[in-house]
Amino acid sequence: MTGFKALTIIFATAIFPALGDQTVFSSWEQDGSQWTTFPHPITRVAVIGAGPRGLQAAAHLLAANLSVRLFERAPSPGGNWFYTEETPVREAYPETNSTSSETLPKEFPVTQYYEEGDDSISLDERWTGHWQPRPVWYNMRTNSPGHSPDTPWLPSVHDVERNIRAYASLHGLNTNDKPFSPPYNPVTSYSTRVEAIQKCNETSTWTLTLRRLQWMPESHRLKADWWTEEFDAVVIAAGYYAKAYVPEIKGIGNWSKAMKNGQYSMIHSQAFRHPERYAGKNVLIVGASISATQISRTLAPFANRIIASIRPNKYRDAYGFDILLAFADKTEIVPEIASFEPLDSNDFGIRPGKIWLANGTIIDGIDEIILATGYRANSFLPNLVNNRTFDNLYWTGHYIDDPTLVYSLYGDPWTHAAYVSYAFAKVWTGKARLPSHERMWRDYQSGRYRFGTPLDVLLQEGLRKQYVAWLNSESLKLGGQFVEPLSLEARELLTYFVNAHYRKDWFSYENWTRFDDLPFSEWPKPGPPDGQQYKVVSW
Ligand SMILES: Cc1cc2nc3c(=O)[nH]c(=O)nc-3n(C[C@H](O)[C@H](O)[C@H](O)COP(=O)(O)OP(=O)(O)OC[C@H]3O[C@@H](n4cnc5c(N)ncnc54)[C@H](O)[C@@H]3O)c2cc1C
Ligand SMILES: NC(=O)c1ccc[n+]([C@@H]2O[C@H](COP(=O)([O-])OP(=O)(O)OC[C@H]3O[C@@H](n4cnc5c(N)ncnc54)[C@H](OP(=O)(O)O)[C@@H]3O)[C@@H](O)[C@H]2O)c1
Ligand SMILES: *[C@@H]1O[C@H](CO)[C@@H](O)[C@H](O)[C@H]1NC(C)=O
Ligand SMILES: *[C@@H]1O[C@H](CO)[C@@H](O)[C@H](O)[C@H]1NC(C)=O
Ligand SMILES: *[C@@H]1O[C@H](CO)[C@@H](O)[C@H](O)[C@H]1NC(C)=O
Ligand SMILES: *[C@@H]1O[C@H](CO)[C@@H](O)[C@H](O)[C@H]1NC(C)=O
Ligand SMILES: *[C@@H]1O[C@H](CO)[C@@H](O)[C@H](O)[C@H]1NC(C)=O
Ligand SMILES: *[C@@H]1O[C@H](CO)[C@@H](O)[C@H](O)[C@H]1NC(C)=O
Ligand SMILES: *[C@@H]1O[C@H](CO)[C@@H](O)[C@H](O)[C@H]1NC(C)=O
Repeated sequence: MTGFKALTIIFATAIFPALGDQTVFSSWEQDGSQWTTFPHPITRVAVIGAGPRGLQAAAHLLAANLSVRLFERAPSPGGNWFYTEETPVREAYPETNSTSSETLPKEFPVTQYYEEGDDSISLDERWTGHWQPRPVWYNMRTNSPGHSPDTPWLPSVHDVERNIRAYASLHGLNTNDKPFSPPYNPVTSYSTRVEAIQKCNETSTWTLTLRRLQWMPESHRLKADWWTEEFDAVVIAAGYYAKAYVPEIKGIGNWSKAMKNGQYSMIHSQAFRHPERYAGKNVLIVGASISATQISRTLAPFANRIIASIRPNKYRDAYGFDILLAFADKTEIVPEIASFEPLDSNDFGIRPGKIWLANGTIIDGIDEIILATGYRANSFLPNLVNNRTFDNLYWTGHYIDDPTLVYSLYGDPWTHAAYVSYAFAKVWTGKARLPSHERMWRDYQSGRYRFGTPLDVLLQEGLRKQYVAWLNSESLKLGGQFVEPLSLEARELLTYFVNAHYRKDWFSYENWTRFDDLPFSEWPKPGPPDGQQYKVVSW
């Protein structure tokens, strides 16, 4: 079983350095060997999401002979990398907190049919509302190094998508595959959205409420099949980005209605697809992060003027995140927007409209606005897990109060997610142990095992080391394969990439090797400067 990059899991012939008391695991043992146990054997597992993380989880669980079901609301695998010309249902201006979930039927299974305009919703909108087309544009490239040999240095969204689809096919998880897991159940169900998850205390199982949407081209209708399925354990790999964030700026609702040539003049970056539309236009981009800067560079050869409205950001500046950000040279930087002056009419676009900036200046003559203002986090189970900080999770991704529920969310999705997925399979098949409930809470509350963002190179390396040490020490005791640490080649690649693309002195090869010699007790203490809270950044 492999991850997407150089991460390989090899068999037990390799010699591993003595784990000794460098790791936390010896102290788990000293705790009196209190381990987490499950009320009954885990055989049926649901995986939610067929992005890079969910596909790896499903592949590893299948390899462990568990009975797996993979649910994905989109019609194809790829997650964030499934490029389509279709765009998500237009975001609300101003933002609302309503979710796109349908009202749950009273009985299952049940089938419903939708006609054009039912509940004032077009069929297209009902379809895209179901699976949410992805926020990636046609000529987007990664901002992270290539994930496999023979792909470009900065792979395009299409390269990455092909890679993920190939991984899905290799493991029998693609749309047309007919894989079976014991006892011969089909594994995948695409166009299927998980609408609800409920834990039943008596049976100690999870019930998923599912809704699959299909086009009925002959009758021009959509068919919705609703049903429920029961599982012993659930992997949530539903991604981090749930829906567009629309800032509350005075007058934004009024401007959001303005159209020119049948197209809205204000969009969120989630609906950006092609730069050609902006040829000769004056474009205002709101935001100063990756979407804003990348889109400015994509537009540069086409747009007349590019103006970026940005606001200072203490966190970003403290971390030096600006090293990742570079607007196109021609970009004019202006302050935050204070308000949009009401338009006289919505029918001639926004060019005559006036925008007040926070410093009291007025700008006008804008043809198009792209809100590159980011996303709301996908909480999925807000009653269990805090939707901003994703706390209450152990460093392994297990929900501390009930480790039959896991999130695959932390770390790099291409390399790290392989450890995470293998760990889920090992824990649920009794090939790796988790400490007791009390011990997990204690570890969690100590803050000792928070490993920062993917940009915290050293802390993330600490997390990887923790996985390697844990999984291999458990394999020695209980059987299973050995996992390798991040390869020297992968370290080199990442270091080289960062230095070539971002900032030369950010980190060097030294940063890794120095870490190698530190005993566990001297691993850097995780935690942001000035006692601030980490903002979760999912790579
Ligand atoms: C614009 C953009 C650009 C990015 N660029 C990069 C980059 O260059 N490099 C990089 O490493 N990362 C990048 N990322 C981060 C990206 O999130 C990860 O690369 C990766 O896709 C995360 O994998 P995942 O499997 O966790 O989530 P996703 O890829 O988001 O997949 C989650 C899947 O879960 C499904 N799902 C969600 N809810 C449900 C439900 N209720 N029922 C059924 N299915 C559900 C979704 O449909 C989706 O297919 C980018 C993100 C964005 C938004
Ligand atoms: N591969 C690629 O090329 C690529 C492209 C796009 C995105 N991505 C990835 O996608 C993820 C999301 O990135 P993102 O850039 O879309 O979102 P983001 O990182 O959340 O950035 C949102 C930006 O909008 C700003 N903002 C919000 N409200 C504002 C307001 N009222 N006025 C001015 N600025 C405002 C934020 O400022 P504050 O910082 O002050 O909040 C921030 O700069 C990241 O993981 C990123 O790496 C990758
Ligand atoms: C899974 O089942 C197959 C076929 O019975 C067996 O060969 C294989 O060793 C099993 N794998 C694990 C990890 O138990
Ligand atoms: C939506 O929820 C957020 C977070 O709880 C809250 O700050 C905001 O005011 C809510 N917006 C509306 C329109 O209810
Ligand atoms: C199920 O059990 C948990 C933990 O014991 C408890 O907090 C919860 O209230 C119970 N739920 C129901 C519906 O009984
Ligand atoms: C306000 O910002 C605009 C755009 O950047 C700039 O031209 C102007 O000089 C600024 N005004 C003041 C008072 O700083
Ligand atoms: C919004 O724009 C319309 C023009 O289409 C205008 O008539 C209306 O007064 C504006 N609304 C507000 C609240 O300013
Ligand atoms: C986060 O959870 C809180 C509490 O459940 C809820 O009010 C809020 O709307 C959620 N925010 C998002 C962005 O989902
Ligand atoms: C890398 O090591 C240098 C020298 O010790 C240090 O100043 C720097 O903060 C380290 N960088 C990271 C990202 O840890």
